[in-house]
Amino acid sequence: MRVVLSSSTAEAVSTVVTMIVDKIESHPASVIGLATGKTMEAVYAEWVRVAQDRSLKLDQSFYFMLDEYVGLPDQHPESFRVYIQRRLLNPLELKKSQISFPPAFGSNLEKDASDYERLLKESGGIDLQLLGVGTNGHIGFNEPGSEKTSRTRRVKLTTETREANKVHFPEGNMPAEALSMGIGTILEAKSLVLLATGKSKADVIKYLMNHHDDSKCPITYLKSHADFTLVLDPDAASKINLKI
Ligand code: GLP
Repeated sequence: MRVVLSSSTAEAVSTVVTMIVDKIESHPASVIGLATGKTMEAVYAEWVRVAQDRSLKLDQSFYFMLDEYVGLPDQHPESFRVYIQRRLLNPLELKKSQISFPPAFGSNLEKDASDYERLLKESGGIDLQLLGVGTNGHIGFNEPGSEKTSRTRRVKLTTETREANKVHFPEGNMPAEALSMGIGTILEAKSLVLLATGKSKADVIKYLMNHHDDSKCPITYLKSHADFTLVLDPDAASKINLKI
């Protein structure tokens, strides 16, 4: 694991965006895995800014979403599909044919999940997977208790995750389940970059530093990946003993 300590949140975001842009510039047909959450909003805003500034060519790149809520209508404003359309696909003018979503809207989710795995394989696999982390250590929606070998599947959200995200569902219809790439699926990406910002992530980052392959905290599984970069802002790094 490579840890990048940043002197500000903006610097941390810029580090992640530089990794994405470098990847696409050096290999235009890159396959990028996309995450959601508040943390990633700043990444997508900066990515759009840099791409427009540099007229970055994106037409050969391809994208896979990490997860999606189950039970929301396709165009629900809080679905991850709409999240990424609004923040990345529309501003970058990416085509629908350049992205795959976990098919969480169908009636046979088990089959749909294995179809998604097949699509991932057929694409040649993810070159760079973007990740955030939940306060309980979840990755994508791989909640505590998830197995290291888990694949794309239907998962139940924990009370903690539902509490953390219910602010986005003022009508009280926060979903109880999601379809998420598994830990085993994520670990097959060639490179992983995880961005953690803010004080709410300081405890889980401290836990990560001291634990390995701990099913109570799925982020710890990522330490066994050969190319895993953890990017932290000062608040997320505030409980660990590394110095800039
Ligand atoms: C959701 C997503 C995760 C994301 C996490 C953290 O649960 N499924 O992929 O990492 O939120 O979100 P935030 O950045 O809002 O803390």
